[in-house]
Amino acid sequence: MPTWHKALDQAPKEGTMVEVEIKGLKLFVTLNNGKLYCAENRCPHEDIELTLGCLKGNRVKCSLHGYSFDLATGDSSEADVDNMLTYPVKQENNEIYIEV
Ligand code: FES
Repeated sequence: MPTWHKALDQAPKEGTMVEVEIKGLKLFVTLNNGKLYCAENRCPHEDIELTLGCLKGNRVKCSLHGYSFDLATGDSSEADVDNMLTYPVKQENNEIYIEV
């Protein structure tokens, strides 16, 4: 049963990705155009950390081969690459919580 876990004392700065670890899962949280997102910090293509890449519009672009993933849905830019895993994230009294 997923439960909410405190991940950060405050939201990341707009346009930045912050690594967090919850229950042994390596995740990242980002604030993009004023909206919070959370996803697994691992490219579904070849396991590299997505925080080494960059944000482009509403997507995170992997640094290795340039494939990208929708921050909201995890949708992959490549039909033969799995989608990125995303997680619910919320802010309460400044603090950031992730449902894992
Ligand atoms: S490892 Fe991320 S696109 Fe290839």
